Amino acid sequence: MSAPDSPAPDSAWDDASVERSIASAEAAIAAAQSTAELKAVRLAHDGPKSALALANRAVGGLAPQLRRAAGARVGAARHRVATALAERQDQLQAVELTAQLAAERVDVTLPVDLAPPGQPHPISALMEQLGDVFVAMGWEIAEGPELEAAWMNFDALNMGPHHPARATSDTLFVDPVEHNLVMRTHTSPVQIRTMLSRPLPIYIVCPGQVYRADEFDATHVPVFHQIEGLVVDRGITLGHLKGALDHLARAMFGQVRTRIRPSYFPFTEPSAEIDLECFVCHGASVDQPDAPCRTCSSEGWIEWGGCGVVNPRVLAACGVDAEVYSGFAFGMGVERTLMFRNAAADMRDMVEGDIRFSRALKGGAR
Ligand code: DAH
Repeated sequence: MSAPDSPAPDSAWDDASVERSIASAEAAIAAAQSTAELKAVRLAHDGPKSALALANRAVGGLAPQLRRAAGARVGAARHRVATALAERQDQLQAVELTAQLAAERVDVTLPVDLAPPGQPHPISALMEQLGDVFVAMGWEIAEGPELEAAWMNFDALNMGPHHPARATSDTLFVDPVEHNLVMRTHTSPVQIRTMLSRPLPIYIVCPGQVYRADEFDATHVPVFHQIEGLVVDRGITLGHLKGALDHLARAMFGQVRTRIRPSYFPFTEPSAEIDLECFVCHGASVDQPDAPCRTCSSEGWIEWGGCGVVNPRVLAACGVDAEVYSGFAFGMGVERTLMFRNAAADMRDMVEGDIRFSRALKGGAR
């Protein structure tokens, strides 16, 4: 370090250095195109590590006879830089404010929809679409009451007096219990009502609301919807059932693989579950513990509904000659179908009545 009384010509506080610092600060200030850029310039030219701040610090170590003039020079230079910074800050801020106001401009004259039109509930819309798939093939829509005779809901469907589904824990019985009236637990009693009232052959679907003493959680609601199908004609086989279900699956989900898997229902023999290929992993998660699929529990398939060949005992209960006629039936949950089709993760959203849910699902459209 040079002695204070014989300064080197390029000391930080000498005239030439200070002028250079001012010139480079002013050039940088003028070049800054935004307040953000100017912030960096301020740090470089007016910050604690800037050339002028260092010069100021060096002045403190000078001999008294040099300190006064050097201090005044550095002080004036810092003032000049600070003033230039403040002026540029004002200019840039004004430009930025103008740009922001232009960008955030709101046209208050635009019309406002104070009463937007409603939306069909996605479940209602989907029930209609499900029905339409069959109406297009010439089937009919059948309906039945939601308050149903236990005989229609159970006995005629070959569900004996001790069938577990009849327990009060699953079924909502209506007082007085001796009257044997229940809130229907499925749409299957409409099969019975139809066979008892319509001429053969029968090709019907029944979309409707059903009731169970069930939990209220993401995958269960106590009041939900099913669609039931029933065909009774001469020569009906399991092949016709698979064809009808594949057609429905394609109409609902596009190109999707289906399978029927043996199961048990009292009202069909043989009985099956209809499964859809998992629409998330498409089977890739099967036997792959490192890449499990939560949607299908790594099964590759998801259960959609139940089906089967109508049990001759059910045909007999309705006075249909099982020697001449045979039939198939199926039933599936509409809420479940909506969950798969529109990736609606929580069934509770379907009953809470928030219009945003209906709008998001565009009334159930795909
Ligand atoms: N009723 C059944 C249920 O609620 C669903 C069902 C299964 C309907 C098989 C059918 C069928 O028509 O054949 O779980």
